[in-house]
Amino acid sequence: MIDRKVTLTDSLTGKSVELPVLDATYGDAVMDIGKLNKEFGLFTYDPGFVSTASCESAITYLDGEKGELMYRGYPIEQLATKCSFLEVCYLLWNGELPNKNEYIEFRNIIMHHTLMHETLRMFLDGFRYDAHPMAMMTGIVGSMASFYQDKLDINDPEHRMITAHRLISKMPTIAAACYKHSIGQPIMYPRNDLSYAGNFLHMMFATPCKEYIIDPVAEEAIDVLLILHADHEQNASTSTVRLAGSSGTNPFAAIAAGIACLWGPAHGGANEAVLKMLNQIGTVDNIDKFIAKAKDKDDPFRLMGFGHRVYKNFDPRAKLIKGIADKVLAKYGDDPLMHIAIRLEEIALKDQYFIERKLYPNVDFYSGIIYKALKIPVTMFTPMFVIARTIGWITHWNEMISDPNLKIGRPRQRYIGPTERDIKK
Ligand code: CMC
Repeated sequence: MIDRKVTLTDSLTGKSVELPVLDATYGDAVMDIGKLNKEFGLFTYDPGFVSTASCESAITYLDGEKGELMYRGYPIEQLATKCSFLEVCYLLWNGELPNKNEYIEFRNIIMHHTLMHETLRMFLDGFRYDAHPMAMMTGIVGSMASFYQDKLDINDPEHRMITAHRLISKMPTIAAACYKHSIGQPIMYPRNDLSYAGNFLHMMFATPCKEYIIDPVAEEAIDVLLILHADHEQNASTSTVRLAGSSGTNPFAAIAAGIACLWGPAHGGANEAVLKMLNQIGTVDNIDKFIAKAKDKDDPFRLMGFGHRVYKNFDPRAKLIKGIADKVLAKYGDDPLMHIAIRLEEIALKDQYFIERKLYPNVDFYSGIIYKALKIPVTMFTPMFVIARTIGWITHWNEMISDPNLKIGRPRQRYIGPTERDIKK
């Protein structure tokens, strides 16, 4: 390790402080500013955390300039083509891919905890028939702490693992139940003989009167989409889970906070927003008008599915998703929205505004088109993201809780409010 330090000098006081630089396996090194306030009397100020590493992590690495993504060192392209989602879950949680027996055992555990507590069904009835599934999921997942009180000791690694299993197993059941409630159909119980993705499709589309025949093309597409969305280092929802969890709250509460954060259109809500935008554009002839709107600083409109805080190149997940979209549409028929999306991408990638700002299609640009082709309704797009990201969130939470140096997350501020004053009465 190279002994590197950064020296900061305050132009006002002339005082200097030496800050150690810590190497990373990949990516930028970090400057350890832990002693800055004590020695220097200053806080750092970094809205949006654009220059701030909030933690150390050994789970996921992404290189935004090169457009690379790895889980536990394995490139996403290999994971998406050679592994199942459950293998990827095992990898993220344990750090290594499972061997055959480990995989069978893990799959059995996950596929035998898929039922949600019967009482949770009553929660569904408390929601309006047209409640957004993300609102329902935030509430239902938060409430799970009340059902599993015997396994909530966050300092017990076994309790943490059982909770992870419960969350991975039950999230598709909860998501599908929310959907069934929203369309007034009875919820479908899980089928443990099916694959993880196949079971989700069954719970979404079967009814007590009619079996749903699972199409392998749809099953594979869902499985790969789950892999691509499984983790993405310290994104907004993962950071939310970490911050909520840092207080020592139970994992269900922390994951519910992550679901709430993911819902926003700048994050996981973007896949729903992309489809709404493509519908709004309506025809290829309108694209120029919407590109102009996206470039107009007086117009809040943004091209949904474009741009990323970290990727300043093609999002590698978007490339893989485009491949799945081609396969799914070949089977399920052409979609006029796909033509709009392809043309929009072509035009934006040649436009100086998008080139200068390095705005490329992100993971959400094509995922909505695939979901739509598979008849998954728009309001379920972000819940699909929740199902996938649950393993990422819970793995980050576990990594944080396992750290003996864990401190509650408590950022500071630059106060710009009024000076002290007296109430005059
Ligand atoms: N359309 C038009 N202009 C954009 C867009 C866009 N989609 N994204 C960024 N810009 C412009 C922005 O106006 C700014 O221009 P200027 O420098 O002239 O002021 C510049 O590019 C930098 O934007 P920023 O807002 O500072 O960048 P950010 O890193 O804070 O935001 C983002 C990243 C993903 C929130 C943003 O690109 C965005 O809002 N994209 C659309 C929503 C979206 O697709 N989100 C999904 C992200 S990937 C999945 C996930 O994280 O869940």
